[in-house]
Order: sequence, then structure tokens, then C-alpha cells
Amino acid sequence: STQLAARAAYLLRGNDLGTMTSAAPRLYPHMWSWDAAFVAVGLAPLSVERAVVELDTLLSAQWKNGMIPHIVFANGVDGYFPGPARWECRKLASNAPDGPDTSGITQPPVHAIAVQRILDHSRRHGRSTRAVAEEFLNRRWPDLVRWHRWLAHARDPKETGRITLYHGWESGMDNSPRWDRAYANVVPGMDLPPYRRADTSIVSDPTQRPSDREYDRYLWLVEQMRRANYDDFQLTSVMSFAVEDVFVSAIFALACEVLADIGEEYKQPHADVRELHGWAERFRAGVVATADERTGAAKDYDVRLQRWISTETLAMFAPLLSGGLSRHAERALLNTFEGPRFCGHPDLRYALPPSTSPVSKDFRPREYWRGPVWPVMSWLFSWAFARRGWAERSYMLRAEGLRQASDGSFAEYYEPYTGAPLGSMQQSWTAASVLDWLG
Ligand code: DGY
Repeated sequence: STQLAARAAYLLRGNDLGTMTSAAPRLYPHMWSWDAAFVAVGLAPLSVERAVVELDTLLSAQWKNGMIPHIVFANGVDGYFPGPARWECRKLASNAPDGPDTSGITQPPVHAIAVQRILDHSRRHGRSTRAVAEEFLNRRWPDLVRWHRWLAHARDPKETGRITLYHGWESGMDNSPRWDRAYANVVPGMDLPPYRRADTSIVSDPTQRPSDREYDRYLWLVEQMRRANYDDFQLTSVMSFAVEDVFVSAIFALACEVLADIGEEYKQPHADVRELHGWAERFRAGVVATADERTGAAKDYDVRLQRWISTETLAMFAPLLSGGLSRHAERALLNTFEGPRFCGHPDLRYALPPSTSPVSKDFRPREYWRGPVWPVMSWLFSWAFARRGWAERSYMLRAEGLRQASDGSFAEYYEPYTGAPLGSMQQSWTAASVLDWLG
């Protein structure tokens, strides 16, 4: 396992572009928002200083409205589509930052978790490392709060306690069955400017990636945003895709709680901490409100069709992250997570949660978010379970996650039955998960 940690550290160094770590060498040659947070979690045990740099780079691309964009483009790096020329945020969006080129959408708010891991690790070191971490926190605290405030306001204007997304990419789970119905409503216009995918020339088996039909819709949504100048208020009415994402909402509740804890411990302004506690409560309740009383399973909501979206995917477990279910419902949901519909399915190679249940009709064992096991999700559940006091469950996920990782490919996702590595190899956040587990 020290050897595995060394290989993971070597991988992150290899993907290091200087002040950012690319999400993966060829497929994702830039910085992705939630990837960067997980990467910082993995860098923290190696170097608190370098982990701080990673988050500083991300936050230097924060939009003027507070949004952290889903991609920060590395200077002069080609080979990814859609790149800056397709988004054109600086030209079209008054909120775009003056600094680096970015995309015009957001991604799940896991960043507070990274800040906490950095502060935790810094305490194991001497005064100068601790000072680096604390200086970072004091300097970036207002930006972190602005980020959370933007999510709570711009993405939950009606205060339902759930975050609205206007692009499946914002969920991080691009082609999950969760969004199939909502995407059926996205009809690409005849005037969708032509484009050429880059991903399928890198991942040579196209069935591991979203389909061309799906991509047309992804690009059409980008086009709708461009025409609305990426304006928060306009998006609420012009976008043909609008969903309340229960998983992102649970992550947000958790992140608000984590940030509030940090704020209390490191003496940040009381008013901020109070606001964060308030959001944590609102979003925890928003998540629980979607859950089935008996099974505890949570749902997304399609804002355009005005109907609930029930799927047997990771989304149903959102309340396990944020808490608040009745004891009975929570026990039922844990049983589902560990039982034969998910981690306990008899044919699984490792007892880790697949992105979609193997017994669901939507399950595709090799197709991106339609079935494969994503190590970073195993990490997130294992971290959250530890936080909730479920040490044994957390430990089991870690043990199984490390067994899966021992093939050394650090793949983006894995085939649940065979354990075959899929998608991009040398994915940074996979290495980062391993480093935190072994750190
Ligand atoms: C991609 O390009 O596949 C990413 O998931 C979009 O952010």
C-alpha cells in the first residue's frame, strides 16, 4: 500500500501543470471544479502548500456573481471540446472573471470538504505550514461564502432547499438515467452550430462515453446559455433543461455544515457562520422532503415537466450524505445501499456502489454514469459515513475501494462485475481518493 500511495503521488505530479492539476492527461486536460476539490484532498497529505495552490487557482477563476465555473481552462492547451472558443464567456457574460478562460456552468460544491482536509493535515505540521493553511482560509473565506451564497440564492430562488441545474454537466453525472426524461425535452435547433467531439477520439471505445445524440443536446444547452449571456435570471426561463438535483443539494447541505464548522473553529465572522447553518438546515430539509417515508429513497425534480424523477441511482442515497431522515427510513436506505440492489449485488467484483443499480432497466455496465463504479463516489460516501459516525461502514468502503484501486490504473470508472478499468486512465481524482485513504 505504500507502493500504491507512491504511484498515486507520482500520477498527480505527472498531471501537475504548475498551478493546476489536469483532471486527466488527455481526456480532461484542464481544471474541473469538483475534480480540483478532490485533487486538493489528495494533495493535502503530500503537501499542504500545493493543495492550497490548487484551490487558489480554482478560486481565482470565480465569477463576479460568486459562481465557481465547472472548467478553468489551462493556457494554450488544446484537444478538449467544448473549449473557450465555444463558450466565449468573457465576450458574452458580464459576470465572467477577468482572469483565466472558463466554462459558463457550475459543478457540485464539494470544496468545503477540501478546505477541511487541508486544515486537518496542516495541524500535523509545524507552524509555517499551519500558517499557510490559515492564511489561505482567512483570505478566501469571503469567496467561499460568496460561492455558497450564489448557490443558495441564484440556484434556489424559491427557497425549496434544492439546487436547480440547467445542464446535466452541472450534476457531474452527465448521462445518468436521472436526466433521460429531462433531456428528451431538449430539442436541438437547426441552428446548432456544427462541432466535432474530441472525447471519442481519446476513449477509443465510444460505448463508454455519452452518445452523439446526447452530445447534441449538451451543446444545444450551451447554445441556449450563450444566447442568454449566461445571465442567472434569464436562465430560469430560457433553458429547456431545468432540474432540482437532490444529490447536489445534499452535498451542498453537507458543505455548508462543514464550512460553518470551519468558520466557528477558525473564528470567521459570526454572521457568515449563522447564514451557513441556515442554508445547511434548509437544504437538509429540502433533500428529506423528496424522500420516500418508508424506503428513505430521494428523488430529483424536473422543473420543466413539473414531475418527480425516481431512479435507482446514487441520487436515491442523497439523504445518507446530509442526514435528517427518520431512524426507520435511514435504516431502510442503508439496507438498500448495502443490499443486493447496490453494493451487495451477488455478481459485483467489489462491494462498492455502482452509479446505477445493476437491477435497474437503465443499467449499462460500461457506459459512464449508467452503471460503472466511480472511485471518487466511493470516497465521498466513505468520507460522509465517517462524518456521520458510521466508522465500520466507512472503513468497508475504503477497504473495497483500495482493493479496486490495487490494479494501479487509477481509472475514471470501473465495470462493476469484472472490475475492468474504463474511461480515462490516470484520472487525478481517483489517485487523490487513494491518497486520502492511505494518508
Ligand atoms: C466531459 O467533457 O465529459 C465532462 O464531463 C463535461 O464536463
